[in-house]
Amino acid sequence: MVGRKDVLDLNDFTAAEIEQVLRTADAMREILTRPIKRVPALRGKTVVNLFFEPSTRTRVSFELAAKALSADVVNISASGSSVEKGESLVDTVRTLQALGADVVVMRHSQSGAPYLVAQQVQASVINAGDGWHAHPTQALLDLYTVREHFGRIAGLRVVIVGDILHSRVARSNVWGFTRLGAHVVLCGPPTLLPPLDGHTDGYGLPPVAVCTDLEAALEGADVVMALRLQRERQQAGLLPSLREYIARYQITAERLRRTAPHAIVMHPGPLNEGVEIAPDVARSDRSVIEQQVTNGVAVRMALLYLLTGASDER
Ligand code: CP
Repeated sequence: MVGRKDVLDLNDFTAAEIEQVLRTADAMREILTRPIKRVPALRGKTVVNLFFEPSTRTRVSFELAAKALSADVVNISASGSSVEKGESLVDTVRTLQALGADVVVMRHSQSGAPYLVAQQVQASVINAGDGWHAHPTQALLDLYTVREHFGRIAGLRVVIVGDILHSRVARSNVWGFTRLGAHVVLCGPPTLLPPLDGHTDGYGLPPVAVCTDLEAALEGADVVMALRLQRERQQAGLLPSLREYIARYQITAERLRRTAPHAIVMHPGPLNEGVEIAPDVARSDRSVIEQQVTNGVAVRMALLYLLTGASDER
């Protein structure tokens, strides 16, 4: 991450940079196993969590990560801030910078909003999810969880299932997993897939397989990642009915028989159990959903540490 000010997506990360984040997260995880989970690496730095959309996992794990590194942490949501009085996004972030923010962790419903902000401030900007576009820290914790489980990413068959079209998680994961040499398959109903035949290049993503037949997609999969239907971003009429979607695309124990025997099941959360994933699968031995959440703290610690120059490796 030499010279990097911001983390906006993984499309501009090299494989070596991703490996550096994952390696640093290993060290951060060791800190989190200590009786006192705190080191002084970011003492005197201020991290602002600026969330214009709801979040549980991302916001809380960034707060825990910053506190474990001894940073001062401020949490702001749109409601209750001067955004409600009409202040622009850029003015809000410039104000936070004037108040001492070194890092702004930002979630926004508009794709591209963190890019606009990053151009206007000297503070580091971390994209915690922008519209349909990107969620790079989720992808990094997903990569970390898969690497933890298999010891590698290269050569694995990673099947991402569900509402791909509206998923910022899917997009960032396509960049991350392909950059580290995994074979990625995107699977969902035609109306919820990128509008392409067979591959995604031209849609701004690296080429990956695209498929509407879940049974075929799951054959030999090492990793199955279920995604929520992003109803807050969907137009009406994209699905004939929820019942049909469940019948064709829910991840069930029966369908998982087609995967490799060692396959793991992931989900970025929040889950709609009984829709995209059967409750027994979500709680099964194959599920690493809670490990994903736990790993989010170490991965976000690594990013804060590397971005603020606390590391010699920046
Ligand atoms: N995966 C994810 O971004 O979850 P939250 O919306 O709870 O942060």
